Amino acid sequence: MKTIAVIGAGTMGNGIAHTFAQSGFVVKLIDVSEKSLDKGMATIAANLDRMLAKGSITQEDVAKTITNIITYTDIKDGVVGADLVVEAATENVELKLNIFKQLNEACSHNTILATNTSSISITQIGSVVAHPERVIGMHFMNPVPIMKLVEIIRGYNTSDEVTKIIMDLSVKLGKTPVEVNDYPGFVANRILMPMLNEAIETLYNKVAGVYEIDTVMKLGMGHPMGPLQLADFIGPVCLAILNVMYEGFKNPKYAPCPLLVNMVRAGKLGVKSGEGFYDYSESKKAEKISKQFL
Ligand SMILES: NC(=O)c1ccc[n+]([C@@H]2O[C@H](COP(=O)([O-])OP(=O)(O)OC[C@H]3O[C@@H](n4cnc5c(N)ncnc54)[C@H](O)[C@@H]3O)[C@@H](O)[C@H]2O)c1
Repeated sequence: MKTIAVIGAGTMGNGIAHTFAQSGFVVKLIDVSEKSLDKGMATIAANLDRMLAKGSITQEDVAKTITNIITYTDIKDGVVGADLVVEAATENVELKLNIFKQLNEACSHNTILATNTSSISITQIGSVVAHPERVIGMHFMNPVPIMKLVEIIRGYNTSDEVTKIIMDLSVKLGKTPVEVNDYPGFVANRILMPMLNEAIETLYNKVAGVYEIDTVMKLGMGHPMGPLQLADFIGPVCLAILNVMYEGFKNPKYAPCPLLVNMVRAGKLGVKSGEGFYDYSESKKAEKISKQFL
């Protein structure tokens, strides 16, 4: 496996492209938005510079990583010659099904098709392509170049062979892959999202404030970041994932807190929009938090 196409140059897509390129793969980074591609490449360059300053990579690694990435705005052009496609576009079922229909037309039947979805069924995504045994979930964590885990999700039809290839490939990227089955929320979000939702519910019930809730979880439970700050980093996807679990399991325990619903409706989407449980409007403040995270 030499050439990887990554669809979506946003938060996750640029991190995935960075990680593959730094491991020596040729990466074709595709996004419908030229602006997102420019922003994604600028983020990759800034993150590489930070790693260089820390001494974890050399100037040569920086140069090689950047030259390994080629950008495209057209899926058909971008996926030519790709051995693997990793889709990391916006979390929306219709949008992803549409992308996979295009991949079905544009790629050979030997190309493995992976998705970084946080919550959408891999089996459903696989249902729109010929040979769904090559469709798999490759759920990276944010920030991708730093976080070790890749949750590998087997759809109902995913083959043993494809699962093994993707598990081995994840190890080559320096990650630790964990194999799980395709049920709403998989494992990571099935456990994480109810905790974030409960933290929001605690705020909604006025049991404590944002600072107090996050401090209890950081200092009391040893979490590196409070649940409300983490919800700000994840953004409106939290609501989308809770809704998928609520509908998928038909269980009220996954019902999103009305405060979260209201905040997403009001455009308070966390770090991405500049305001969530915290205020990121002063750019320096947000930068301080991102650095702490990285
Ligand atoms: N943000 C997280 O913490 C996180 C963690 C794990 C997984 N995920 C998943 O990763 C995926 C991407 O999330 P994100 O946070 O990077 O989103 P994002 O909004 O930062 O980026 C999405 C990108 O997809 C692009 N896009 C939209 N439609 C497209 C299309 N048809 N073709 C090509 N590009 C298209 C957009 O222009 C945008 O640049 C989602 O499925 C999300 O659930 C997110």
